[in-house]
Amino acid sequence: MQYDFTNIHKRYNTGSGKWDELARHGINESEDIIPFSVADMEFVTAPEIVEALKHELDNSIMGYANPTQEYLSEVCNWFEHRHNWKAKPEWILTTHGVVDAFFEAVKTYTNPGEGVMLTTPVYHPMYMAVNFTGRKLVDCKMINTGTSYKIDFDDFEKKASDPNTKLLILCSPHNPCGRVWTRDELTQIGEICLKHNVLVLSDEIHCDLIMPGHVHTVFASISDEFANNSIICTAPSKTFNIAGLQTSNIFIPNKELRDKYLASLKLTNPNPKCNILGYCAALAAYKNCESWLDSALEVINTNRKLICDFLTREIPEIKAYNLEGTYLMWLDFNALGLNYKELERINHSEAKLFFDEGYIFGSQGEGFERWNIACPTRYIQDALERIKQVYSRYRRS
Ligand SMILES: Cc1ncc(COP(=O)(O)O)c(C=O)c1O
Repeated sequence: MQYDFTNIHKRYNTGSGKWDELARHGINESEDIIPFSVADMEFVTAPEIVEALKHELDNSIMGYANPTQEYLSEVCNWFEHRHNWKAKPEWILTTHGVVDAFFEAVKTYTNPGEGVMLTTPVYHPMYMAVNFTGRKLVDCKMINTGTSYKIDFDDFEKKASDPNTKLLILCSPHNPCGRVWTRDELTQIGEICLKHNVLVLSDEIHCDLIMPGHVHTVFASISDEFANNSIICTAPSKTFNIAGLQTSNIFIPNKELRDKYLASLKLTNPNPKCNILGYCAALAAYKNCESWLDSALEVINTNRKLICDFLTREIPEIKAYNLEGTYLMWLDFNALGLNYKELERINHSEAKLFFDEGYIFGSQGEGFERWNIACPTRYIQDALERIKQVYSRYRRS
């Protein structure tokens, strides 16, 4: 099937926070500009999902819904087929989102004051899950190699070995750094956590968005011991661009941990349930949309290469970090010597570029921008031309 990866549906006045930002800065339909911030795609929904939803609307009664056996099996089939991980349907709990799930996990598995490790800079709601719940942030700053990041394992083990440290929230693949952790790195992480009784919550929401030459390893697939010491958070939302339908699949292979999560959840949400249309879309996506995903990944990879080549050639002071996975590129503007607030101003007011500001991911992100590149290529070309034009004024030589 031919899919549409070139047309944009402008989302002004639709309740999209990402598009509202443009309106706030006075941009409107007459300017052919799109936002590159919040992590959803500017690609129209796969026709297979639209058809399944239409069929559901025509044929079902919109009553309360639980995940069906077919739904749970298809989710497992996807992970076996795409990631070589044999999961069991009974391990899955469905939630409205991965952020909801990791907030709940922090509350379930740790007590106020106990330590939660994050490998930073990292997806900002992970800090919130630690800070808003009164837990202690155990900040494992990653080593910036200049084109990528790696974990400082000496520091990581030192922090994991503190008896007050109880949980690691791992972002795998990593947002915003674009790392796809290798099996060796994950093994090292998992062994340290097992040795020091640190539970691992692996947020794998970006696991299907992998660039050529890289392989995603589900943390729990590495060994039974890892599976028993982990919570694996997944969703079809990033993969198939259906985040608004709010259906996530949280795998907790260890029954004791699963029961504990459910018992804790009942205190705040006594009757958790998801949306019938979310289940419908997710099922259609996992069953029928693999070729849509592969085509979307080709566009994302084209955009990635375009940005790398253009910046290297035209304005090497702006450095694109290696994008191994996710569709979120991490760009370092620091060589231009601009204050990070000035950088934000220039992007908004002069270049009319709306990225996510690097500083929201932690202080190491100052002077960086996160560029969501899941959009038609011509918008990337246009943005690059504006970068060249505006930043030629700020180059030091
Ligand atoms: C690492 C990561 N986890 C979770 C989410 C959001 O998950 P949800 O919308 O399911 O709460 C995002 C969205 O950008 C993300 O990047």
